[in-house]
Amino acid sequence: MRTHYCTHIDETNIKETISVAGWVNSRRDHGGIIFIDLRDKSGILQLVADPKDSQEALSIAETIRDEFVLIVSGTIRARGEGLENPNLKTGKIELVIKELIIENKSKAMPFDINDDKVNDEIRLKNRFLELRSSKSYDIFKLRSKASMQVRNTLDELGFLDVETPILTKSTPEGARDYLVPSRVHGGEFYALPQSPQLFKQLLMVSGFDKYFQIAKCFRDEDLRADRQPEFTQIDVEMSFCNQEDVIEVAQKVIYDVFTKCGKDIPKTFNRMTYNDALETYGTDKPDMRFDMPLIDVIDIFANSTNEIFAQIAKDKKNNRIKALRCPNGDKIFSKRQMKGFEEYVRKFGAKGLGYFQYKEDGLKGPLTKFFSQADLEEIIATTKLEIGDVVFFGAGDKKTVWDYMGRFRLYLASLIDGMIDPDAYKFLWVVDFPMFEIIDGKVKALHHPFTMPKSLDNLEDLEAIESIAYDIVLNGTELGGGSIRIHKEEIQAKVFDIMGISKQEANEKFGFLLEALKYGAPSHGGFALGLDRMIMLLAKTDSIRDVIAFPKTQKAQCLLTKAPSPVDELQLKELSLRLRQQV
Ligand code: AMO
Repeated sequence: MRTHYCTHIDETNIKETISVAGWVNSRRDHGGIIFIDLRDKSGILQLVADPKDSQEALSIAETIRDEFVLIVSGTIRARGEGLENPNLKTGKIELVIKELIIENKSKAMPFDINDDKVNDEIRLKNRFLELRSSKSYDIFKLRSKASMQVRNTLDELGFLDVETPILTKSTPEGARDYLVPSRVHGGEFYALPQSPQLFKQLLMVSGFDKYFQIAKCFRDEDLRADRQPEFTQIDVEMSFCNQEDVIEVAQKVIYDVFTKCGKDIPKTFNRMTYNDALETYGTDKPDMRFDMPLIDVIDIFANSTNEIFAQIAKDKKNNRIKALRCPNGDKIFSKRQMKGFEEYVRKFGAKGLGYFQYKEDGLKGPLTKFFSQADLEEIIATTKLEIGDVVFFGAGDKKTVWDYMGRFRLYLASLIDGMIDPDAYKFLWVVDFPMFEIIDGKVKALHHPFTMPKSLDNLEDLEAIESIAYDIVLNGTELGGGSIRIHKEEIQAKVFDIMGISKQEANEKFGFLLEALKYGAPSHGGFALGLDRMIMLLAKTDSIRDVIAFPKTQKAQCLLTKAPSPVDELQLKELSLRLRQQV
């Protein structure tokens, strides 16, 4: 049927007879001669239907419309003088139609596939049409290349690709489970895996030594621009390893994938402790494409005559006063914008947002009256201010200050031209994560409860216990994470105990893991990288939906297939289910 893809033809094919197949991208009728842009996965080729060459082809060409499917044969010729199109790979040539077959017709398209502004609902309902655009095709080419590289690299390193169950038991990754009712065991449910975590640990107990899987994971959680209910992880586990060994493998996978996809990145990445990341950037996933650190000024503010600051500064363990220098801020932002900044941080729990402007004659702003001249000088020195800068302050309990000042840092940078290099890839390992966090009085594992704590000797301050866990962050996005795992049953039992998980509950939920740990479990550790997020960053798209062939909406629906959808009464009955009245 086809001898060539559209753009695999060039001037060297002139005078050759060839056949191509594809979709009508556009059709132009120039009174007696019809030009067709034919599109296939490779790109576009111009076809010409001229009565001089084939009257029959011209008659057929008159009936075709956009997105009809054609199979065409003819000869390649150079385009006439001045008729070349430098924007097309095949812009110097065209195919003169000898034979034209309409393989299939198409309804008028519900939207223009090359228009980025079409609303999401129409695009997602017709996702198979949206995927016709070369932008989409290029993303999936990239995705395929990346996952192929992942397989090659891990295969070379001796990792075994093993599939783990989809119908399984709940894995505690922190989100809600998707449940599947069992027909055979009425009233009982499988859970879809939030990750293959427990199975990959079991494979280590089985002696597989090095495992990997490009694994589908399912999490019923609030969706964001970089989250989908169903997503893919590059999941890795290895035995007899320490943190360095695991980091080395993860770096190699990332380096190979990015290099294969034409990105120049370093072979090893910088590291920062979790604590430093929060103190300096207000988040455990700092965007390192720009600096703008949060600077501690609590000691200077302790001297201020302002009651609120002085009070906050009294509790240095739990409170923070952080300064954020905005270079040239006084010139870039108007008074009104500065007011807007306060509104912005209030959304994240700030009580207010103080600032000084550094003018020729010193610091200005309503707060200056609370500070001595010497302290004002110290603020300038500590925050390394230059004339024209603005410095903002956040004060309050540490978690709130980190959070809103961290967000504000990102927000400010996004408003300043040239602050973020859109082409940069800045990786960072965040290490030494706390083992536990206390939320509403409940002890939770920050990563997951199978993470190895550095020590459980001192249980006085649970949040101070560190774990051997690490995250890899790229441009402010958490790309992946992992840890060295607990391989001794007694440590695992102690962790469950600290988390208030009773023996009985632990046995019900993870009895199989606890049992496995009794049979000579080797030391082991691993990581998982979010493949979708990696492709998003490689393709420089800001929605995870663009890199998933058939994604879900913000409300976890598939508009194309209309899933989820009601099922027959009979199906419910078979599954021993009866629906409650929806409230
Ligand atoms: P974690 O929960 O950090 O670790 O997940 C690893 C990576 O998976 C990606 N990810 C997601 N991507 C898209 N949509 C989601 N809803 C979503 N949730 C997570 C992120 C994240 O960094 N079992 C551990 C790994 C390990 O310890 O080996 C785990 O799943 O990029």
